[in-house]
Amino acid sequence: MRTSFPKDRIGFVLAEGVHEAGRALLEREGFCVETHAGALTGAGLGAAAGSAHVIGIRSKTTIDGPMIADSPRLLAIGCYCAGTNQVDVDAAADAGIPVFNAPFSNTRSVAEMTIAEVIALHRRMFDRSHAMHAGQWDKSASGSHEVRGRTLGIVGYGHIGSQVSVLAEALGMRVVFYDVGAKLPLGNARVARSLDELLAASDAVTLHVPATAATRSIIGDAQIRRMKPGAYLINNARGSVVDVDALARALGSGHLGGAALDVFPEEPASVDAGFASPLRGMPNVILTPHIGGSTIEAQRAIAEEVTGKLIRFINIGSTLGAVNVPEVDLPEQARPAPEDGRRPHRILNFHRNEPGALNEINGVIAGLGGNVNAQFLRTSGAVGYVVLDVDPTDGDAIAAGIGALPGSVRTRVLW
Ligand code: NAI
Repeated sequence: MRTSFPKDRIGFVLAEGVHEAGRALLEREGFCVETHAGALTGAGLGAAAGSAHVIGIRSKTTIDGPMIADSPRLLAIGCYCAGTNQVDVDAAADAGIPVFNAPFSNTRSVAEMTIAEVIALHRRMFDRSHAMHAGQWDKSASGSHEVRGRTLGIVGYGHIGSQVSVLAEALGMRVVFYDVGAKLPLGNARVARSLDELLAASDAVTLHVPATAATRSIIGDAQIRRMKPGAYLINNARGSVVDVDALARALGSGHLGGAALDVFPEEPASVDAGFASPLRGMPNVILTPHIGGSTIEAQRAIAEEVTGKLIRFINIGSTLGAVNVPEVDLPEQARPAPEDGRRPHRILNFHRNEPGALNEINGVIAGLGGNVNAQFLRTSGAVGYVVLDVDPTDGDAIAAGIGALPGSVRTRVLW
């Protein structure tokens, strides 16, 4: 069937070695896909952004405001990672370009690593392994414990915290959690009324809160003092949430029995930059280079999640999951039988969020004798996004009329 714009002329550029699952999904849909193993910079990025309809990047490609202004064909940006700091999302919103990401595709990977660390800390496994690598056979039960029956305190019971809860209970641990929001306890997990209550009750404390002003140094000297002697601390959340100097003091004095950290207040920008921390060389301290979410499975899940969102946006105009424009999702349009003679159109319009914008849009449709079957408008901040199913009428004329309105930013028509 002919469509408003042939899919094989819609170009996707995927950079930074986005997992192959992304390309496979796009090709199955009939889109034209170009992939790059590395980050895009300079002229290469300009050429890609200037020619592609959709660009997919990870964290090492930067798309700034001027680049967005110079890319009139660009319809959407996919960030194949959790963060979107590398894109000027406000400039993209002003240009009617949604930005999609994958905030939760690596949840399970972080949860599994956390559980591995709970056991490794209880068994001092890393110290024993280091000793063996140094030629020492230190066979002893000293300082080693089963996790069964012990209490895991989870701070932040969101996507990751709640997964950790399920896995910990499967190991026979007791789970207590603290969250600022009301959360349904899974399994036999128990809610702590305060962070202090959780700290006093836990043999190991694991942090799964976001980096906010309220969580900055949520674990410092005072909180560590409330933890049980010999307890363990795990931070796979964000570097700002733990006062690392306080933690080093508590480990040095023997008040805490060990720690595992995947995230740090300052993380090296590159492999060559080196890593400095007061925690280096301390016993029973596991240090990992921000790899909690870095697994092949997570990469695949991220590729599928972001590509799926991009496909829905290109195919039906859905902005569900966009970080910078209003989320609008209408079901796919019903396809009339060919003999019916109708040609339903879907008009997608980004506009400046100013009073009267919808009236003007509806005025254009009424003026052309169009009948609106469905209409979904949402606004947030400076941007409005409306999806209109009009039938039967000349969708191209309506799109041109709406596109010519002074507040219109970008209009697409699908049929
Ligand atoms: P989420 O948003 O699903 O859950 C966070 C939870 O923390 C929410 O339930 C929220 O109510 C709670 N919370 C917020 N402020 C709090 C406070 N002051 N005290 C107690 N609870 C509070 O987030 P998700 O996906 O579970 O991620 C958790 C953390 O893990 C984030 O910081 C994220 O950046 C980090 N992360 C780290 C990765 C790594 O590679 N190490 C990979 C993925 C996520």
